[in-house]
Amino acid sequence: MPWPPGSVPLMLAPMQGLTNRALRQVQYDIAAPDVLFTEFIRVREKTPRLISAVDRAEVQATAGAPLVAQIIGQSAERLAQAAVELQQCGVRHINLNLGCPFGRMVSGSSGGAMLRQPELVYACVRSLRRVVTGSFSVKVRAGFDDSEQIFSLLPMFAGEGVDFIVVHPRTVVQKYAGSADHTITARVVAATALPVIANGDVVCARQGRELLRDSGAAGLMLGRAAIADPLLFQRLRRPDCAAADPQQRRADAARYLTRLLAGYSDIFCGDQQILGKIKAVLACFSDVCFDVMVFKLRRCRSVAAFSSELRRWQ
Ligand SMILES: Cc1cc2nc3c(=O)[nH]c(=O)nc-3n(C[C@H](O)[C@H](O)[C@H](O)COP(=O)(O)O)c2cc1C
Repeated sequence: MPWPPGSVPLMLAPMQGLTNRALRQVQYDIAAPDVLFTEFIRVREKTPRLISAVDRAEVQATAGAPLVAQIIGQSAERLAQAAVELQQCGVRHINLNLGCPFGRMVSGSSGGAMLRQPELVYACVRSLRRVVTGSFSVKVRAGFDDSEQIFSLLPMFAGEGVDFIVVHPRTVVQKYAGSADHTITARVVAATALPVIANGDVVCARQGRELLRDSGAAGLMLGRAAIADPLLFQRLRRPDCAAADPQQRRADAARYLTRLLAGYSDIFCGDQQILGKIKAVLACFSDVCFDVMVFKLRRCRSVAAFSSELRRWQ
């Protein structure tokens, strides 16, 4: 497992466009999530190269924390070959994306769309398990269009030797509409002996602790809320640690974004790309206490302007 036995792991979710190696390192330095995931790595079907050079660069380990590389693809053979290749690059833990509800993923047969073909899911899980030498996990939605579908997959996941499952209890067709129904997560925990990691809509520490308690999940995975506020990991670990007042939260956020900006300047090129990437992070700031700050940062047209706006908030 990518976490120590007996512990309750808090994980940073895989998020395309966000959880690049710079962001993972800053998150780890600030709040040390127990496990970090890469953005999904697309396994190409038609080119001789299975994985792009950009994605290969992305699997560099985050210093200090276990990294899980997430792959998405549509054939058992290519996925297994890609897993072998990633392991040759030093990756130890591999996760299969069975949840992405967007773009090519849903029109084809990868990500969430693969749930429309359970026999293909079986084939991919089986061939990946055969080659993955570290932990092998799946991140899965409740179903394609039926939130009971996951229950029909659990025996196969256990029987084929999946090590743990991350459950996001929405259907693929639901995308992000409505809310994550964690009564499903609790029923999944009750229905399988596999460790279940709960994911979806956790926005504060109290709610995260309640989800762990009420669902019996083995751990939590945080996405948008942790991208906006990595200190959420710390507050989850320490019940005595309350959220700071809004002014302090804005100052913490400005320091976090300053570190991210430095990391992004190292791995991305030019103001436009750097600003595009960091503004994607701003999209996760949903708390009203950040509204003015986010509004002003969004209007910045250069890295220098963004940086000086951040200084005003620290
Ligand atoms: C911008 C964005 C990118 C995402 N990229 C991925 C991805 O690469 N792989 C994946 O399994 N899930 C991806 N997700 C889903 C998240 O991992 C997570 O399941 C979802 O955001 C729900 O968790 P949250 O409510 O804590 O954000 C993405 C979500 C968003 C909003």
